[in-house]
Amino acid sequence: MFNPYFLVTFLYIALAVLGALDAALINFNLLPFFAGLRWMRVHFITLGALTELVFGILPLLVASRNGLPRPKIRWDIWLTLNLGLLILLLGIPPINGVLITTGGTLIFTAAVLLMIQLGRLRNPRTETQPSAGRKFYILGLAYLLLGIIVGTGLWQGWSVWLQIKVPLEVHIHANNWGFMSLVFAGLLIDLYPSFAGRSLAWPRSITPIFWMMTLGALGLVLGPWFQSNLFSVPGLILHLSATIWLLLNVIKPLVGDRRLWTPGILHLITSYVWILAPVLIAPLIILEVPGFPGAGIEQNAPQALIYGWVLQFGYAIIPLLFRRVFQPESPSKLGGNWFSLIAVHLGGVFLWAGIFLHESQATLHGVAYGLWFVSMLPIAYELWQIVRSGMNNLQDKNAVPAVAESGD
Ligand code: HEM
Repeated sequence: MFNPYFLVTFLYIALAVLGALDAALINFNLLPFFAGLRWMRVHFITLGALTELVFGILPLLVASRNGLPRPKIRWDIWLTLNLGLLILLLGIPPINGVLITTGGTLIFTAAVLLMIQLGRLRNPRTETQPSAGRKFYILGLAYLLLGIIVGTGLWQGWSVWLQIKVPLEVHIHANNWGFMSLVFAGLLIDLYPSFAGRSLAWPRSITPIFWMMTLGALGLVLGPWFQSNLFSVPGLILHLSATIWLLLNVIKPLVGDRRLWTPGILHLITSYVWILAPVLIAPLIILEVPGFPGAGIEQNAPQALIYGWVLQFGYAIIPLLFRRVFQPESPSKLGGNWFSLIAVHLGGVFLWAGIFLHESQATLHGVAYGLWFVSMLPIAYELWQIVRSGMNNLQDKNAVPAVAESGD
């Protein structure tokens, strides 16, 4: 049962909690000296919590959906990923090219090994319901590879020989619209029946959604690569339509069943609001509307996307997956409560308000990070409880033979 990825996921969530607190304090001018933590704040969540979780759960999920035996933990993949992360954490603050390249290469290798492992977990029999998410995971990881190459070379001038016009945007788009979007879609598709107790509204729509999302992400990567809206605009339309179609698939079967409208399901569905926010105002940036804070948006919108969407999606899905692993007998339940739901959304509202109200930006952003910080607390506590009770159960089970022996 022991899954070392989950331990590291928990560790990075704890660090993400501290990262948000640190950002709140910096904005309030209470803590001026940790301002260099910007990279870590985003990557504790994206690489540390979500990528770690994805690496831990995908082989288990695909094998179980495909009716295959539970795969053994691949320590080579675990070690490569975590060594890479550790080396990046050391290499990024001083911008040390050798360490960044080594860290990036190790994480790249781990992702390739995971893709090969997932590629081999094919459904051998037709009578079991195969993992529909598997192709989303494999393609999502392919986008991660691209994101890693661009991210690793971001401060080392690789974009010159790769001829990338706007490298940071290519990095963010490959990871968010490619990797995260596809993997999240796969998880929604594979896990929905277990937590909603019913199937998606139109199961046959999954294949077109997959292609629309994959091609949409490609357009969104090539757009900033060549700085051309000829790629970005169709990419955006395809990706957005696929996302809305997927969400309708999730929402329609729940209509009329109030029991199912829990904070967990609301976390999952409403997290997508924070993807739509930058998309809806993108035309105003592209058209360079006067007085519109385009630069402020480019600087701050990624943070809102990571906390509002990636992290919030995690609020619901991480406790669910932790329960699957640590408490396999308990019913499938998404994470979060009303407090985390309201606080995380208010955080997004304050961050966006700060972009537009420039004079009060520091205060508003301080409040935003403060809200994100408190919104994470119930989730961290929930995860801790799941891990603790899982560990206790394990100890109790181990204790039974010992008691039986001593009773003889
Ligand atoms: C080996 C893996 C990775 C490396 C080497 C890497 C590297 C970088 C670098 C150097 C930056 C620029 C930071 C700055 O300008 O302050 C950056 C920004 C960013 N990265 Fe990554 N990254 C990696 C993986 C990821 C992943 C997996 C995601 C998301 C799923 C991600 C999302 C982002 C975002 C959203 C930003 C913008 C942050 C901001 O503007 O504050 N990165 N990354």
